[in-house]
Amino acid sequence: MPVPYRGRVIASLSDVPVRGRRVLVRLDINSPVDPLSGRILSDHRLRAAAATIRMLVEEGAAVVAMSHQGRPLESDFTSLERHAEELSRLSGVHVGFVDDVIGPEAIRRIKRVSPGEVLLLENTRLVSEDFIEAPPEVHAKGFMVRRLAPLFDLYVNDAFSVSHRSQASVVGFPLVIPGAAGPVTEKELDALDRALERSGRPIVVFLGGAKLRDAISIMEALGSGSADEILTGGLVGLMVLAAQGYRLPAPVLDLVERKAGEGWRARLARLLEGGAPLRAPRDFRSEIDGRVVLVPADRIAGAPKDIGPATVDEYSRIIAEARAVVMRGPAGVIEDERFRWGTVKLVEAALRSKAYTLLGGGHFNTVLNELPEELRARVGHVSTAGGALLYFLASRPLPGLEALALSAEKFGLAG
Ligand code: 3PG
Repeated sequence: MPVPYRGRVIASLSDVPVRGRRVLVRLDINSPVDPLSGRILSDHRLRAAAATIRMLVEEGAAVVAMSHQGRPLESDFTSLERHAEELSRLSGVHVGFVDDVIGPEAIRRIKRVSPGEVLLLENTRLVSEDFIEAPPEVHAKGFMVRRLAPLFDLYVNDAFSVSHRSQASVVGFPLVIPGAAGPVTEKELDALDRALERSGRPIVVFLGGAKLRDAISIMEALGSGSADEILTGGLVGLMVLAAQGYRLPAPVLDLVERKAGEGWRARLARLLEGGAPLRAPRDFRSEIDGRVVLVPADRIAGAPKDIGPATVDEYSRIIAEARAVVMRGPAGVIEDERFRWGTVKLVEAALRSKAYTLLGGGHFNTVLNELPEELRARVGHVSTAGGALLYFLASRPLPGLEALALSAEKFGLAG
């Protein structure tokens, strides 16, 4: 079945024959990496990608996979050699590796891949074009696409989580060769559609964490009717309190000012005046001189690091009535187990309700691990996406998917 995407359609890999064909699959196996040892710290994305690789191999495709890892000059900008080993382990299929992306060695190895075999190319961001934002038509004429596209019959975007970037490996190929959405991308779109369109009302969205600009954009996109309740926690909750006129400790307010972007107060004031269903925490668990102290929202002291029990009660009652719950970002500083409680309680409330639950971001796996197996099994979907999910929720364009929609039209792929 073609995959619906914002009123357009994109082709599904499950409708495209791959046996004996040469398939270029864009994965997103960009993962947190320990800067000292180079060890991969989370295999959430690798597991999802391994299932796709296995499926393509079982169906008899000759598979070449590519992905970025980190950003140039940052500590997690590393080779994908370990990723290839991990993919082999997780998929049960040998994933070969070449430490080249578009050079002669890569071309030679790509040409040698036979049906049933897999080759992973080196980090695509070693090629400067893959870190430059340009429209799909421009990347379609770029060096990377000119070098690689002639070697393939089909391009697969199985990298929803980088589809908010208009970079060569994400948008260039499907304008030149037929492009389809892989199972990871399809599952992400289906989960979003299920949460925001198909499960019914009320839709409850929880926004936590510290990505304040993105949170405001999401509130603006969902606050005029698409969501019935927007609950906030983390630094996002503190920002909403500040906009409501509550006093924050000076260092917290400074952080909000720095992260929220220009005009944040006016944007939030407009939302609040316009009746957006926004809620902020009533109380916090705050750290004062190494001790954890409960403080109400109108007398915040110390460093507020988690939501408190009154907030958990109120939010849990709202969540209990929901038909769909989307959670993006944690309610507190979950890396510190003393401040994980609020997030765990909210996830628990969602999983105990009848709602379809979509959890955005790999950090929710840490939270899920604290819950019993029978509750964990009730999660609708744990998204592999960070920024792309925020873009989707904020109704911002996802160029990787727009390029697939163009491909479907150009090559007559989606029926
Ligand atoms: C992500 O982790 O959100 C994606 O892999 C995109 O990475 P980027 O923000 O470096 O483009």
